[in-house]
Amino acid sequence: MNNLNHLAIIMDGNGRWAQIRNKPRKIGHQEGAKVVRDITIWCAKNSIKYLTLFAFSTENWKRPKAEVDFLMKLLLKYLKKEKNTYLQNNIRFKAIGNIEVFNNPLKDMICELEESTKMHTSLTQTLALNYGSRDEITRTFKKLLKNPPQELENLESLIAKNLDTCDFPDVDLLIRTGGEMRISNFLLWQISYAELYFTPTYWPEFSTTELSDIIKSYKKKERRFGGL
Ligand code: FPP
Repeated sequence: MNNLNHLAIIMDGNGRWAQIRNKPRKIGHQEGAKVVRDITIWCAKNSIKYLTLFAFSTENWKRPKAEVDFLMKLLLKYLKKEKNTYLQNNIRFKAIGNIEVFNNPLKDMICELEESTKMHTSLTQTLALNYGSRDEITRTFKKLLKNPPQELENLESLIAKNLDTCDFPDVDLLIRTGGEMRISNFLLWQISYAELYFTPTYWPEFSTTELSDIIKSYKKKERRFGGL
């Protein structure tokens, strides 16, 4: 049976979930935020050590300003409201991506929550915010080139240690909801050996029951990591 240490999820389909119900897209995002909470608590209670969620990509800025503003507000509201969930469930909060561009209240809340949960030991829940894998790798190279390593023998591990995910294990299982079969610039380095699972379920309808079924099938898969 495969161990599941690091689960990553591309949460897609909020807008379509709302549109087919004749509701504004923002209602889909609101419902999606509730699912983030349920899935996070379930993961903490089911011994998953890392959960990384794609919450806002470097490409999402292309959306209409009203939707971007709404997502920023929702995120801040979520982090404030759920602070107790992180504290009561021993969950460590982390953000990856370039958060420098966010407004001060959001940046402060991210830093405060990272700080107040840094000793927590059950689940590490990571939100990828203004995150894109190419941007992460590019930032890593800029960092390394400013202070180039003396020898290149261990360059691969040096790169890994300088990514935003420097202290996380590789992703074991990547799930994408919403029916599209693509990776959309998410954790390209970290999913090298991950099992991939695509479900048509829109994120607001994704449930702990479906997650548990996906994990059961993941556990039975044979993972060879390039060997036989
Ligand atoms: C994709 O749905 C989802 C996003 C761009 C953002 C993810 C945000 C949430 C799940 C809610 C807020 C998150 C937190 C952590 C509070 P989409 O809008 O691309 O849907 P579509 O493909 O149907 O248009």
